Amino acid sequence: MSRMQKMPEPELIFDRSRPGRIGCNVPRCDTPEVDVASAVGAVRDDLHLPEVSELDLLRHFTNLSHINYGIETGFYPLGSCTMKYNPKINEQTARLAGFANLHPMQPVATIPGALEILYGVQSMLIEITGFSTITLQPVAGAHGEMTCLMLIKAYHESRGEGNRTVVLVPDSAHGTNPASAARCGYSVKSIPTDAAGNTDLAALATALEEVGPNVAALMLTNPSTLGLFEPNIERICKMLHDAGGQVFCDGANMNAMVGTTRPGDHGFDCMHLNLHKTFSTPHGGGGPGCGAIGLQSHLEPFLPAPVIRMSEGKIIADEDRPQTIGRVAGFYGQFLMEVRAYTYLRAFGKEHMADISRYSVLNANYVRERLKDVLPPAHDRPCMHECILTAEKYKKEHGVRALDISKRLIDYGFHPPTNYFPLIVPECLMIEPTETETKETLDEFCDAMISICREAVEEPDLLHDAPSTRITGRLDETLAVKNLDVRWWPNQ
Ligand SMILES: Cc1ncc(COP(=O)(O)O)c(C=O)c1O
Repeated sequence: MSRMQKMPEPELIFDRSRPGRIGCNVPRCDTPEVDVASAVGAVRDDLHLPEVSELDLLRHFTNLSHINYGIETGFYPLGSCTMKYNPKINEQTARLAGFANLHPMQPVATIPGALEILYGVQSMLIEITGFSTITLQPVAGAHGEMTCLMLIKAYHESRGEGNRTVVLVPDSAHGTNPASAARCGYSVKSIPTDAAGNTDLAALATALEEVGPNVAALMLTNPSTLGLFEPNIERICKMLHDAGGQVFCDGANMNAMVGTTRPGDHGFDCMHLNLHKTFSTPHGGGGPGCGAIGLQSHLEPFLPAPVIRMSEGKIIADEDRPQTIGRVAGFYGQFLMEVRAYTYLRAFGKEHMADISRYSVLNANYVRERLKDVLPPAHDRPCMHECILTAEKYKKEHGVRALDISKRLIDYGFHPPTNYFPLIVPECLMIEPTETETKETLDEFCDAMISICREAVEEPDLLHDAPSTRITGRLDETLAVKNLDVRWWPNQ
């Protein structure tokens, strides 16, 4: 089907239903039959289930799956989310029986192979980030942020500085940063971004003066959600350290830096990584993921237990941690995510690691250059792994919003970029192509965007009415968020 062709409505499985038809073969019972379901009152006749053959059911679900859009069906330039391809070899290793069938309650002595994987991932991430320790226990990026703040809190308290209750967060930080700080019991003070897209140092100095001895930390997303590398990290870290605070790096955007530069060398005290963004473990649906964290040695005593470390030439799961903040997840975190990340890291190898960041930055800048005449970049300097463009002129001159451009992109067969984030850029389109896309795909996407911008001027209603080729048009997204209902109801 061509991209601009209207997608046919899927046939309802209930139209195929015929009384008495069954879609499965239940093995013949070789014990006396007992009608347990009726005995416990579990039989219901109000369920209205379709009665179909196995093949009809299979076709139904296969056809539904073809309506779905994912990284394996097309380009998915969702900024900040790094929807890069997850190599299939990761899935093969994660399914190896020796890993997949491990029981989390197994005695540690029976899982030396698993410990070796955990220790291996930790060691490689230590080398990549430049921190002295890594823990893999947090199960999502935001969870890693919160764990870092818990360590910072424990650190301040251990020094008798429990009065440090304020966390500073630049307004170009990821939205989960202030949420994690608040969840950790901190109050949050926002620091503005200057005209160049960097943390406003004068405003930071004023905030530090105002907060005084109560400052606990600053959370810096680098590269920021503006897709820009913060050039003043060392100065910012010094300002915080002079004030007795700690500096956390939101390193979820490590895709832009891996193999090229190391946050642990920049002056940060701790950081989190999103294995599902940079190290190609599956992303979406809220996990399960891994928000590994890296830290400098002064925070090590507070690490969540168990700590996987080397002792007398053996890898151990060390539970004897008197100052630990406790566990932040069950057992060892999401072990099979670590198996996938291990596979990815080993498949790339040290010598090719920098290709990840080189190509992700190159691809984002290629898109930025090709689109800059129709969608101006928010800042006049090269971007990192994602480019931030503004559709403000189309709104002012033609009543076309960033959202309309994104919806029209669906008609062209592409997943839209992120819209209206970061909040500080008007009519924002945030495009993250990732390193896994070819120049041909980037060109097809850019051609579509240029064509849509022409339509915005010549036929704006095409954009207002988009998407017009999919099964559903525009949804009421606010209602969908507030009143999520994904079930199909008969007779509606
Ligand atoms: C910069 C940044 N920080 C933090 C997060 C939060 O990660 P998670 O969604 O795994 O909680 C994200 C998510 O994509 C992110 O892009």
